[in-house]
Amino acid sequence: MARDDFYASPFGVAYSAYMDRPRLSRLIAWAVWGGDIRPYYDSMNAVAEVGEGGTIVDCPCGAGPALRALRHDAEVRYVAADLSRSMIRRAEKRAQTRGLANVEFVEANATDIPLASGSADLFLSFWGLHCFEDPAAAVAEAARVLKPGGRLVGSCFVRGSDTLRQRLLVRPGSGDFGQVGTQPEIEALLAGAGLELSSMERSGPMLFFDAHGSSAG
Ligand SMILES: C[S@@+](CC[C@H](N)C(=O)[O-])C[C@H]1O[C@@H](n2cnc3c(N)ncnc32)[C@H](O)[C@@H]1O
Repeated sequence: MARDDFYASPFGVAYSAYMDRPRLSRLIAWAVWGGDIRPYYDSMNAVAEVGEGGTIVDCPCGAGPALRALRHDAEVRYVAADLSRSMIRRAEKRAQTRGLANVEFVEANATDIPLASGSADLFLSFWGLHCFEDPAAAVAEAARVLKPGGRLVGSCFVRGSDTLRQRLLVRPGSGDFGQVGTQPEIEALLAGAGLELSSMERSGPMLFFDAHGSSAG
């Protein structure tokens, strides 16, 4: 099924709604995944740390939950990209509701983002790597788009969790899961793209990471 169709589904509607409600999302994450999703919402603070004139790429942006971290008067370029038109439409609506006129929306594959190399200060990669058919190519593309020393903040589901529930639920090819890697595999993807980890933590099958490109350029 095409990704657009998948996120146009009732699942996509429900997902888009609860991800923009941190308390509900936290409850769902505990109940379904047995983990703490708070680092995801906390890590969105990286958006506010980008200085005037900076560029932020949010891919996949989904329905735009990370827009909550963007001030309407922030003088930054915020590019929200996703393969799903229905998700982009929801994100556009969310930006309107929040009074954000400083967001550009792009329908794009995470492996082919229409931005110049070395143009972004911050790349947000929330809950995308486990959906992608080619996560290595997506990480390489994020590294290409980042400025030397630029920051990648993200999260994804990983295999190799301890509980039976997680082994049953996190299955490559089911639902929106594509190639789901293990934590060491994600670490290797980041290192392979020349990104250095600043921090990585896992809660249940949820992995949260903060990395940066080499400042040598
Ligand atoms: C689980 S959602 C995450 C969305 C959002 N970042 C969030 O925090 O809720 C996964 C998103 O990945 C998008 N997606 C899947 N494959 C993609 C690809 N190859 N390129 C870009 N976006 C893709 C889907 O359309 C969906 O919006």
